[in-house]
Amino acid sequence: MVAVGELVCLRPLTDRDHDALWDAAHDPVTSRLTGLVPAGSREAFDDWTKRLRQRADRVDFAITTPNCDDLIGHAVFTQMDEFAGRADMRMSMLPGHRGRGYGREAVFRLLELAFAPHPHGYGLHRVGLVVLALNPRAKELYESYGFQEEGTLRDYARDGESYTNATVMSLLADEFDASRSIYTPRTHAGA
Ligand SMILES: CC(C)(COP(=O)(O)OP(=O)(O)OC[C@H]1O[C@@H](n2cnc3c(N)ncnc32)[C@H](O)[C@@H]1OP(=O)(O)O)[C@@H](O)C(=O)NCCC(=O)NCCS
Repeated sequence: MVAVGELVCLRPLTDRDHDALWDAAHDPVTSRLTGLVPAGSREAFDDWTKRLRQRADRVDFAITTPNCDDLIGHAVFTQMDEFAGRADMRMSMLPGHRGRGYGREAVFRLLELAFAPHPHGYGLHRVGLVVLALNPRAKELYESYGFQEEGTLRDYARDGESYTNATVMSLLADEFDASRSIYTPRTHAGA
């Protein structure tokens, strides 16, 4: 699926995105904030990234500028379960593209897609996520869209010589109020 917003576009990943994704995956600030540390060769990374596109339980998005070309971030719905109507979400803007409002709109467009009924979206009932305690900026962004805390995962990720907790959060379909957003809902655009 593709969603074109006011500041960002969400589109499927392509091979052309791999260089930027590889660089971002090896950015130490990103690794610290997400708790995800890449392992393996570039070849293995390319293979893995290609295989993601075939998975039924996962959908990866390139976050780009509204031209749907230039990559500025990556987002994913994982553990998608159509019967239960749930998925988990992760996202990361590329270094150099943070703090400019792209992430805020990307979350909104992801949630629009998550909760919109087929064929406009995935018709989900619940979106979950895990955010590290050392990343209050991301947590506040999710809270601003109504995500609620469900619990704490103790010492969930490494932080240098120490560990950091993580918070489990979720948003249910009827808690997502698109009308409170500063963005024009895509499904209403031009109506
Ligand atoms: C967290 C992240 C997705 C937010 O995206 P972003 O494009 O940087 O954020 P935005 O510019 O849209 O700002 C969103 C909110 O973050 C906060 N924020 C933005 N820039 C900030 C800064 N320099 N310092 C502190 N807070 C800041 C603001 O509260 C802002 O809310 P506002 O719109 O009400 O002002 C992005 O910073 C990122 O990818 N970080 C690294 C990876 C990561 O943390 N991923 C999430 C894992 S759960």
